Amino acid sequence: MFFKNLEFRIYHLNEIESTNIHAHKLIQENKAKKGDVFYADLQTIGRGQRGTKWQSDEASNLLMSVVLQPSFKANQQFLLSQTIALAVYYYLDNLTVGKVRIKWPNDILVNQQKIAGVLIENTLQGENIQYSIVGIGLNINQMVFEKFSRKATSLQLLSGKSFNVKQQLEKLLESIEYYYDFLNPIAIRSKEYSQIQIDYLQKNYGYHEELTFRDKNGTFRGKVVGFEPDGKLIVESKGEKKAYDLKEIQFIN
Ligand code: BTN
Repeated sequence: MFFKNLEFRIYHLNEIESTNIHAHKLIQENKAKKGDVFYADLQTIGRGQRGTKWQSDEASNLLMSVVLQPSFKANQQFLLSQTIALAVYYYLDNLTVGKVRIKWPNDILVNQQKIAGVLIENTLQGENIQYSIVGIGLNINQMVFEKFSRKATSLQLLSGKSFNVKQQLEKLLESIEYYYDFLNPIAIRSKEYSQIQIDYLQKNYGYHEELTFRDKNGTFRGKVVGFEPDGKLIVESKGEKKAYDLKEIQFIN
C-alpha cells in the first residue's frame, strides 16, 4: 500500500508471541523498517500497558504493530502517543458505532467501554528514537470478554455486524498515515501540531466533565484539564491542578 509519506508493507502471521516483540526482534536483526506492519490471528503473550496481558480470541480482532520512525527524542514520545490515539479515534468515529473517547494516554473507549489499546515501544539510538513500534489491539468481532475493571466492547458488539479484520486494518492505516504526517519537524514547531494537541485534549474522557480518580491520597472528583509535554495528565480538583504520571493515578469510572 502506498500513502503520501509512508509505504506500508503488511505481513500476516498466524500465531506469534506478540506482534510488538516480533517487530522488535526483526529490527534488532536489521530485518524490519519504517512502514512494516505485522498483524496476527493469535498472540500467545500479547502485551498490554503497565505489564498487563492483552487478551484476544483467535482470528477475531486486530492485533497489529506498525514500525514508525518519528524524528524526535525519546522524551517527546507523548507526541506520537497523542497522534496515534487521534488516528484510532477518527477511524472509529467514522464507523459511527457509538460515542468515541480517548482515555489518557491512548486507550480508546466507545460508549465508555474499552475497544482499543495502544502500546508504543521504542528502540533508541542515544537520546533519539531509532524506531517506534506502535502496537494496537482493536476489538472487532469478539462477543464475550473476561471481566476487567472497565468493560470491554467490540465493533460487532456495538453494531451487530461482523467486520473483515484486514479491511479494518487498511482503514486504520489510512488514518495513521494522515495523522503521522503532522509529526514532521515543521508541523511540530507550528500551529498545525498545536491543533492536534487541542483536538487530543478535547476528545479525552474526563475533559471538562467530572470523573472519580484515585491517587495516593484516596479517591476524589476531578476534571482532565491538560497534559504536560512529557505526557503527564493534569487533573483539576476543587480548583487545584495536579500533574500525574501513569503510575500515580487511576480512573475509577
Ligand atoms: C493496553 O494495555 O491497552 C495496550 C494493549 C496493546 C495490545 C497490542 S495487540 C498488538 C500489539 N502486540 C502486543 O503484544 N501488544 C500490542
